[in-house]
Amino acid sequence: MSAAPVTITITGAGGQIGYALLFRIASGAMLGPETPMRLNLLEIPQGLRAAEGAALELQDSAFPLLARVEVFDDAAAAFRGANHALLVGARARTAGMERGDLLGANAGIFGPQGAAINAEAADDIRVTVVGNPANTNALIAAAHAPDVPPERFSALTRLDHNRALGQLAPVLGTPVSDIRNLTIWGNHSATQFPDVAHATAGERRVPELLAERLGGAEAARTWLTEEFIPRGAKRGAEIIEGRGSSSVASAASATIDHVRDWGHGTSRGWTSAALVSDGSYGVPEGLISSFPVESVDGAWRVVQGLELDDFARQRIEASVAELIDEREAVRALGVL
Ligand code: NAD
Ligand code: LMR
Repeated sequence: MSAAPVTITITGAGGQIGYALLFRIASGAMLGPETPMRLNLLEIPQGLRAAEGAALELQDSAFPLLARVEVFDDAAAAFRGANHALLVGARARTAGMERGDLLGANAGIFGPQGAAINAEAADDIRVTVVGNPANTNALIAAAHAPDVPPERFSALTRLDHNRALGQLAPVLGTPVSDIRNLTIWGNHSATQFPDVAHATAGERRVPELLAERLGGAEAARTWLTEEFIPRGAKRGAEIIEGRGSSSVASAASATIDHVRDWGHGTSRGWTSAALVSDGSYGVPEGLISSFPVESVDGAWRVVQGLELDDFARQRIEASVAELIDEREAVRALGVL
C-alpha cells in the first residue's frame, strides 16, 4: 500500500445506511484494493454515539486499507481535505409519505454542507447525495458550492437502476450481468422513468427479447407499463412496507457501485446517475436529473444521441416537471 490515503467524508454515519456502507468502503469495495483511506464520519449530536460505536468497530476490523477513522459533529472539520463526500445524513420517509415530503425536514441540511464542502474539501472533491429527496438536495448542495465544478455533484439513482436490472433479469431469463444500457431518467421518486428501449441482454435487444418471452410486442408493452415501471416507482415504498423502514443494504450497495464506477469507469455499457443537466435531452440546464451516463477518466458524461419516442419523452417531461416543482418548493423555503 503505497498511495496517499484518500479522504472520504460520510454524513449520517451513525444511521442505518451509514452502518451498511462503512465496512464495505473500508474493505476496499468502493475505491479498490490499492487505495488506502481516511474516513471522516459526520453526525449531529443525537447520532454521535452510534457513529463513535461504528468507528470502534471499524478499528476492530483491522482493515488493511483503513489509515484512520474520525468522528465529527462539525461539518467544516469533517469535509476538510475530503476527496469524496457521501451525503447520506437526512431523515428517511415512513409509510404513506413520498420522498418529496421530506423536503421541509431535510432541505436545510444541504446548504450548510455544500458551503462547508466549498470551503474545505480537496480540489478533486466528488459529491454523491443519497439523503432524500436526493436530486433536489444535491441541487441545494451544489448551489452553495460555487467554487466546485457542478459536474462534481451527483445524486444516487443507481439503486433504481439496480432494481430495474433485478426486475428484468428473471423475465428475460438472463443474469443481471448480461444486461446493458438500461436508463433511469429523471427524479429518484415515483415519477422516475426506467427505460429499456436501448437495453441489450447478451446479443439481443431487450424489447425484442421481452416480446419473445412474454408472447408478443403488445404483451411486452403491457408488462413494461403495468408492472415494470410501477414496480420500480413504488419499490422504495414496498421495502418500507416489508421492513418497516426504508432500504439500507441495497442503498449502501448502490452507493458503492456509483462511486466505484465514477472513479474506475463504466466498462460494460452505461449506467444511471443524477447529474447537473447541461440541457441534454431537453432537461432544463441546472436541474439535477438522472441520465444514461458513462464514466471516462474519472468524470461522468451523459450518453448522447439516444432516440426517444413520444412515450419516453412524456415520461421524462413528467419527472422533470416534478424536479422543477421541488426546486420551486426549496426556493420558497429560502434554502436555494
Ligand atoms: P437513518 O435515520 O438511519 O440515518 C440518518 C442519519 O443521519 C442519522 O444518524 C442522523 O443522526 C443523521 N443526520 C441527520 N441530519 C444530519 C446532518 N445534518 N449531518 C449529519 N448527519 C445527520 O436513515 P437511513 O436509513 O440511513 O437513510 C438516510 C437517508 O438516505 C434518508 O433520507 C433516506 O430516505 C435516504 N435514502 C436514499 C436512497 C437513494 O437511493 N437515494 C436510498 C435509501 C435511503
Ligand atoms: C429507496 O428508494 O429505497 C429510498 O429512496 C428510500 C425511500 O424512501 O424509498
